[in-house]
Amino acid sequence: SSALTVQELAEKLNRNASEIIKLLFMMGTMVTINSTLDDETIELVCMEFNVECHKEIIIEESDFEEMMNVEEEDEENLVSRPPVVTIMGHVDHGKTTLLDTIRKTHVTEGEFGGITQHIGAYQVSVKGKKVTFLDTPGHEAFTAMRARGAKVTDLVIIVVAADDGVMPQTKEAVDHAKAAGVPVIVAVNKIDKPNANKDRIMNEMSDLGLLPEAWGGDTIFAEVSAKFGDGVSDLLETILVVSEVENFRANPNKMATGTVIEAKLDKGRGPVTTLLVQNGTLHTGDAVVVGTAFGRVRKMTDDRGREIKEALPSTPVEIIGLNDVPIAGDIFKAFDSEKKARQIAETRLTKRIDQERNSSSAMSLDDLARQI
Ligand code: GTP
Ligand code: MG
Repeated sequence: SSALTVQELAEKLNRNASEIIKLLFMMGTMVTINSTLDDETIELVCMEFNVECHKEIIIEESDFEEMMNVEEEDEENLVSRPPVVTIMGHVDHGKTTLLDTIRKTHVTEGEFGGITQHIGAYQVSVKGKKVTFLDTPGHEAFTAMRARGAKVTDLVIIVVAADDGVMPQTKEAVDHAKAAGVPVIVAVNKIDKPNANKDRIMNEMSDLGLLPEAWGGDTIFAEVSAKFGDGVSDLLETILVVSEVENFRANPNKMATGTVIEAKLDKGRGPVTTLLVQNGTLHTGDAVVVGTAFGRVRKMTDDRGREIKEALPSTPVEIIGLNDVPIAGDIFKAFDSEKKARQIAETRLTKRIDQERNSSSAMSLDDLARQI
């Protein structure tokens, strides 16, 4: 049922419950904050607040984020999907080198077309199994996505240079991984260097609560030389082993949901958006809502710039066809009707404008206070 309480409706409309109570009182209906409202009343309230929100939309909006939640799915609809892996670590410890080496050595065999990376995320094939890597340009993007409630990564690899040791951003990475509640693999990098000291890294990481398996803990430490490739295959296999244990799954047989990885405005093509499909399958022609933007997927390309017609769970894709540039961390959802997508996007936009108006007026009050 679509029934909402006054409090729930207030939250969805980004209003005070008292405003709704007052409004309904003026219309001759007495309600309390816990009263349940029927569809007709909900529509009436929306109209009064000038928000286009049919019953349908309210439900979609409230369920929007839950739709990605695989735990809500029927067991029989779930199939395994590739893990989504983020590489983090201190400046110059070798994140980019590691990503490059993985990409160069593990693009799907037999594929022609080079290894040019077109988008900030890519998939490699390890022993016939896919692994998705997110190329987060520094922790800021990751932090921003987390602040927005986006959960995109299944697994974090923390790169620590064996000749340098644990540094401030290593600690940050550990905090991120802990907050995200995802498994961590420590890649002890630059093992080729004469002054590399693996034991020191294990000690320092233990102090941060990541006790190596070799010492009776449950964190896997992999020794690698990102530059020369040593240990990289083992690291990838470790990723597969951890993924098998975790059993990441999704339901490919529904409309897609996922998260924006990056987005930009292209002079010729308009808004160009990199999405990670997290549940369901995205098809060209699908109507999508992305944050407050919407549109049809006009063209979809994979991580190597090849046009594709559908994208399964854990696939990063670049799409064009949106009416606006969304923000990294925005959640997207595909719909069968473009009209519905437009309505939801417009409702969200109204909300966002309201929120911005509220926060900017709060700021000007602060400014005022400061002046006094
Ligand atoms: P930021 O993006 O600035 O945070 O750095 P990063 O973590 O991406 O490090 P990057 O991959 O750019 O590597 C920094 C330097 O370390 C480069 O000069 C690399 O060539 C070097 N380097 C990376 N991995 C290794 C390694 O395994 N062995 C050696 N000897 N050098 C390495
Ligand atoms: Mg880098």
